[in-house]
Amino acid sequence: MRACPLKSVCPKKPTLSTEMLNRREWVKRFVVGSAVALTGEAWKGLVLADISPSVNPANVISLKIADYPTLRDRLDGGYGSMRFNLFGITIPNGIITVTRTPTDQFYAVSAYCTHQGTIVDPYLAGDTNAMICYAHNSVYDIQGTVLVPGNGESSQPNLPSYNNQYDNVSGVLRIEIPNLNLKVNSTTLFSVNGATQRFQLSFPVKGGAKYRIRYTPDLATPSTLVPFATTSTGAVSLTTISPTSNGTRNAWVDSTSAQGFYFVEMIVTEYVP
Ligand code: FES
Repeated sequence: MRACPLKSVCPKKPTLSTEMLNRREWVKRFVVGSAVALTGEAWKGLVLADISPSVNPANVISLKIADYPTLRDRLDGGYGSMRFNLFGITIPNGIITVTRTPTDQFYAVSAYCTHQGTIVDPYLAGDTNAMICYAHNSVYDIQGTVLVPGNGESSQPNLPSYNNQYDNVSGVLRIEIPNLNLKVNSTTLFSVNGATQRFQLSFPVKGGAKYRIRYTPDLATPSTLVPFATTSTGAVSLTTISPTSNGTRNAWVDSTSAQGFYFVEMIVTEYVP
């Protein structure tokens, strides 16, 4: 076992098997089309805002705490802390750490170590009271402030932290990720070979993220995943896309109903090393 930089003996860390049990998939829905007639009427966009009006909804991801035993049960001395994968390990906000305190305060910070980019461990309560990067023993407090720089350096930046808001009635935590930009730029209705009606969804993407599309005929009906194509006339057979770089992507879905709503979702999973 590696030595804890704060104590001669580290408290027991969560085991991988425990973390695996906690793995859930959560998503951010970022566009909704209004009801559309298949007679060629222009798509009337309707974006569902799911956060307070002071925050750009395109930059917010929502997390249902009850889905994650680590955060729900807070078995680490009243604390719960875990990491989520947004865009992978290669950019500063690709992996984030969410920590819940005994008083229902939440902290969301980048897990990308500001020393040399290794992914920092989740928060440990008890004697440690810190997040540690074991690559060169950087130590951060619960807000991401550097307590001990890595490798004996004199200083290093704090971990970026993200605004968040917890609704204890719905049990949903909303986290604002700057420049997330989850939205759809445009939607177009057209036909293929004069027959099949298709919608084109154009939306900005982040390299390393994963996206899929859902449909519901009305907002009261649970949505279902729909296959899509990445060209206007291509086979509608894809279920997800995983861009390797930032940019704009297009997806075409066959429209089989007279009206409905399409969601483009970014998939976020628990980060398990
Ligand atoms: S990369 Fe984290 S301490 Fe060096």
